[in-house]
Amino acid sequence: MENNKLQETLDAHVERDPRLREVYLTAKRRYGQFDFYHHNFVHVMRDLYRALVIAEDEGNVDYSILIPAVLLHDIGFCSPDVEALGHDVAGSQLAQEILEELGFEEEIRQAVGHCILAHKGKATLPDTKEAQILYDADILEKAGVLFMIFAGKLLCEFKESIPHLVEREVTDRGSEVERGFYTRKAREMDGGRLAKVRDLFAQIKKEITVERLDYTVQEEDLWREKPPEFK
Ligand SMILES: [Fe+2]
Ligand SMILES: [Fe+2]
Repeated sequence: MENNKLQETLDAHVERDPRLREVYLTAKRRYGQFDFYHHNFVHVMRDLYRALVIAEDEGNVDYSILIPAVLLHDIGFCSPDVEALGHDVAGSQLAQEILEELGFEEEIRQAVGHCILAHKGKATLPDTKEAQILYDADILEKAGVLFMIFAGKLLCEFKESIPHLVEREVTDRGSEVERGFYTRKAREMDGGRLAKVRDLFAQIKKEITVERLDYTVQEEDLWREKPPEFK
């Protein structure tokens, strides 16, 4: 990519730590089995690219933690525990199990577990450089008007109503803007776009709750009594 060419692509990282190739393939296979509308391997590739760009700018990064953390950060959506625990908590657990099977030492497994647990900024906040880079890389996915198209894919993936999605987006984008990015490069890449996305969702919220109630009309609104039912 012209504007942010990576100094070191994944080849160099795999040469240094061959286990990263196995994590890559495991992640690709697992996400591929579910093939979600949005939380799929293509999303993971975008996050990984951004994370590597940010990491090169930061320096002093442990890539044996960062790369598995990014590759597995949304693996929680593939876990049977996702409903009960949320994808950050479920993903942190599943990722550590996967890394144990692939022969990663406990210190790395725990560090990756923290990155994944903190990547939403909800279960906990990122307190290592690798966790902060993953957080920023994933938030940048939402920091552009293109995200309004991704939001449509989320509606399908989560089988969510428009008012519910909009409410969630206004709240989450608001707290992310308030928290800010952890890294210089992410702030530069954002360029104020995350705040713009938050404002766009706030505008949609106003439309569907005040100005354009027709957008959220229900079947019941067209009947004085109950709508007819199939026999
Ligand atoms: Fe996620
Ligand atoms: Fe993600």
